[in-house]
Amino acid sequence: MLYREAGWLGITELGVESLFLDSRLRRRLQSPFEPLRALGLAEGHTLLDVGCGTGFLTIPAAEIVGAAGRVYAVDVNKGYLEKLVKRIQEKNLYNVVVVESDAADMSQVPDESADRAIMLLSLHHINNWRGALEQVYRKLKEGGLFLIADPIKTRLLGHGTMPNKVLEALDEVGFERLSYTKRFFTWRAVLRKPAPTTGEPP
Ligand SMILES: C[S@@+](CC[C@H](N)C(=O)[O-])C[C@H]1O[C@@H](n2cnc3c(N)ncnc32)[C@H](O)[C@@H]1O
Repeated sequence: MLYREAGWLGITELGVESLFLDSRLRRRLQSPFEPLRALGLAEGHTLLDVGCGTGFLTIPAAEIVGAAGRVYAVDVNKGYLEKLVKRIQEKNLYNVVVVESDAADMSQVPDESADRAIMLLSLHHINNWRGALEQVYRKLKEGGLFLIADPIKTRLLGHGTMPNKVLEALDEVGFERLSYTKRFFTWRAVLRKPAPTTGEPP
């Protein structure tokens, strides 16, 4: 986990992270709507936001899916979830289910309930990340889509994941890969939980 002391500065990584997560600077650098659009999130969908933090994606996603949809916002950090609940109340949103849970558990989220799932900058924080990928697979409906975006470990001072290792694990879990892109510091993949075959001849 990354919440260790940054001793010589006298601050914690968690403190720094918390300042950045929902800052104006971040919104200038990164639109929360862009990954949600890439995932094809639409009105009426159920989204699973894994490692949701203070709600950078959760709040815009709740606005997109509307009253007929739902967002499950999952995180282990109580402090972040408290901030998220405050924002949900301020915005009078009734379609967000806040789940305090390890991503490798998520038993509070019904199986095969999500049309879409997303992990934005959270995978490298999750100790049992393979378990988390298995859980996402389990929570997605057949044909459901999953977007992961994470820093590349070797390009960010060890802070991130090795995409090849994660892609291999995603294959093993059973996901189909729809796209994979690499930028200088980050990688991103869109996956699909395969839809059932009808068994009819082609
Ligand atoms: C860099 S933040 C990203 C938050 C959010 N996705 C965003 O883009 O603003 C990483 C998040 O992963 C969460 N996290 C760390 N370990 C976790 C775990 N085992 N299960 C669920 N969430 C976890 C942290 O609490 C934190 O909110």
